[in-house]
Amino acid sequence: MDIKITRATTLKEKPDQNKLGFGTYFTDHMFVMDYEEGKGWHNAQIVPYGPICMDPASMVLHYAQETFEGLKAYRNKDNILIFRPDMNAKRMIRSNQRLCMAEIPEAMFVEAVEAIVKYEQDWIPEKEGTSLYIRPFCFASEAGVGVHPARAYKFIIILSPVGAYYPEGVNPVKIYVEDEYVRAVAGGTGFAKCGGNYAASIAAQVKAEKLGYTQVLWLDGVHRKYVEEVGTMNVMFLIDDEIVTAPLEGSVLPGVTRDSCIQILKDWGYRVKEINLAIEDLMEYAQNGRLKEAFGTGTAAVISPIGELNYKGNAQIINDFKTGGLTQRLYDELTGIQWGLKADPYHWVKILK
Ligand code: COI
Repeated sequence: MDIKITRATTLKEKPDQNKLGFGTYFTDHMFVMDYEEGKGWHNAQIVPYGPICMDPASMVLHYAQETFEGLKAYRNKDNILIFRPDMNAKRMIRSNQRLCMAEIPEAMFVEAVEAIVKYEQDWIPEKEGTSLYIRPFCFASEAGVGVHPARAYKFIIILSPVGAYYPEGVNPVKIYVEDEYVRAVAGGTGFAKCGGNYAASIAAQVKAEKLGYTQVLWLDGVHRKYVEEVGTMNVMFLIDDEIVTAPLEGSVLPGVTRDSCIQILKDWGYRVKEINLAIEDLMEYAQNGRLKEAFGTGTAAVISPIGELNYKGNAQIINDFKTGGLTQRLYDELTGIQWGLKADPYHWVKILK
């Protein structure tokens, strides 16, 4: 890919690495590329970070043809590392297919991610627990208000130095089991990473926050019975000595962290069951002590322990509201691999040359 570079005339001051939070600071430059039917992807550029000019009739603003990804780059004393970018590239292809959007070939996606991260490498924080969050996104830029697949798209990558996603950090969060709103159904867009899924989730999050909870646990959209995801993450439970998580049957996001955790857990000898788990059963396991640990998995939040589940007013505390031993071990292993501090037998980490 031929990438034209326009350097910003003034560079921003870097934020304090102790106060990054999540997703509020953005680097000096971004990657942009255009698509037109008949011409394909073209005009790849690194340009100063800033507002983009859009036609008010851009189809994304009306019918939400938009997909995005989230991945991270890390810095250790020797290298810059990017975690499994090929997985995000593949998922974006599947998301774009679902939304009838132009696909970005895997090699092009990975090359664009590497190019912008390399260009902005001074922005990768090095403090423990921090990283550079990479947000590639794609949207319909054609002007028109007829409902059909757009013939023009933009692909943009922005970068944000981040700390922990939740103010709680890697400490347990309180989760409200949502039994009114649903996130997705099989046949819909649940497995795709598209903005519309997140728009639909916000009302439940606001409701949970009003009740003093950090996030919601989503139940399946048909029966409001089976456990699917937690907030913006996949969710796993240690029940007796087995791991239980929802299967990928169309309504659950195929998380890269989910996939990585499953592989690590299996290698540690755990049986991982990808099954439909009824919320009533889960609450019973929480009550009778069989539910030992629960945690969310996601790129942004990494591994997030769950300390409380509230379903229809029945609040159950998990593991005395402490981060469980397995949760902590998994967090240490995964982040160790991501930071290049532990062996990576899976070849997940890509060292930026
Ligand atoms: C991620 O974990 O990368 C996500 O997509 C969560 C995001 C919506 C903040």
